[in-house]
Amino acid sequence: MRNVVAGNWKSNKLLNDARAWMDGMSSWLAKNGGVDVMVAMPAPYLAACAPEAPEGLHVLAQNVSAEGFGAHTGEYTAEMLQSCGVAGAIVGHSERRARFGDVDAVVAAKVDALLAADLTAVFCCGETLQERESGRAEDVVLQQLQTGVLRIPVDQIGNVIVAYEPVWAIGTGVTATSAQAQDMHASIRGWLTEAFGAEVAESIPVLYGGSCKPSNAADLFSQKDINGGLIGGASLKPEDFQGVIEGHPALNR
Ligand code: 13P
Repeated sequence: MRNVVAGNWKSNKLLNDARAWMDGMSSWLAKNGGVDVMVAMPAPYLAACAPEAPEGLHVLAQNVSAEGFGAHTGEYTAEMLQSCGVAGAIVGHSERRARFGDVDAVVAAKVDALLAADLTAVFCCGETLQERESGRAEDVVLQQLQTGVLRIPVDQIGNVIVAYEPVWAIGTGVTATSAQAQDMHASIRGWLTEAFGAEVAESIPVLYGGSCKPSNAADLFSQKDINGGLIGGASLKPEDFQGVIEGHPALNR
C-alpha cells in the first residue's frame, strides 16, 4: 500500500513563496521516509518548481485539460505537464465541480488524459452537507467513482489515487470524525474491490481531505482504510504540513 500525503495550495502563494516553501521542506524530507509527499501548485509555477523540487517531493498540477493539443485557449494538456517534470494532477476537486464546470464526464476525460500520459491522477470525490443530511453521501461518492474510475484499465490503475473530500469539511474547520471518514473509506475500498479485485483495491491509496491539520491527522491516518491525506490550508506552511505528515503511522524518521 502506498502511503501518500499531498498538499493542495489552491490559488495561493507567489513564485518566490513556492520556492521558499520547497526550501523549508527539503531538510525535513531528507530525514523522513515511508510516506510519499506531494504538492499541487498553481500552474504558472510548475515549469520552474518541478525541476527544482527537493528529493522526495512530487509536484502536481491542480488541473489538466480534458482535451488534447489544439485550439483550446488557456488549457494545458497532460503531455505539457509531463514535459515540465510534473508528476500528475488533481482532478474532480469539489471547487472545480461546483464552480468551473467539471461535471463527471469532464472529470473522466481528465483522468484518461493523465493516465494516457503516464501521470498520476488524484481523483477527488465527496458529498455536500445536504447530500449527507439526506442520507445520500455514500451513493453520491460511489456514483462519482462509477463515472470517473470504473472504466480505467487495470494496468493503469496504479497511477490513480482516490481522495475522499466531504465538501462540508473543506476549508470550514469542521473535520469528518475519524469514524465518519473511515466509514466512507471502507465503502470506497469495498467499491474498488468489486471493480478491480481485492489485491488491486488494497494497493490504491485512498486519502482523506477536509480540514485535516496537525492536531487531527494522526487520528484520521490511523484508520484502517485511510492511507493519507489531501491537505489544503495546513499545507501552506512547511511546519504545518510536516506536522500533518508526522501524524502518519507509516512515517520513518
Ligand atoms: P482544507 O484542508 O483547507 O480543508 O482543504 C482541503 C482540500 O480541499 C484539499 O484539496
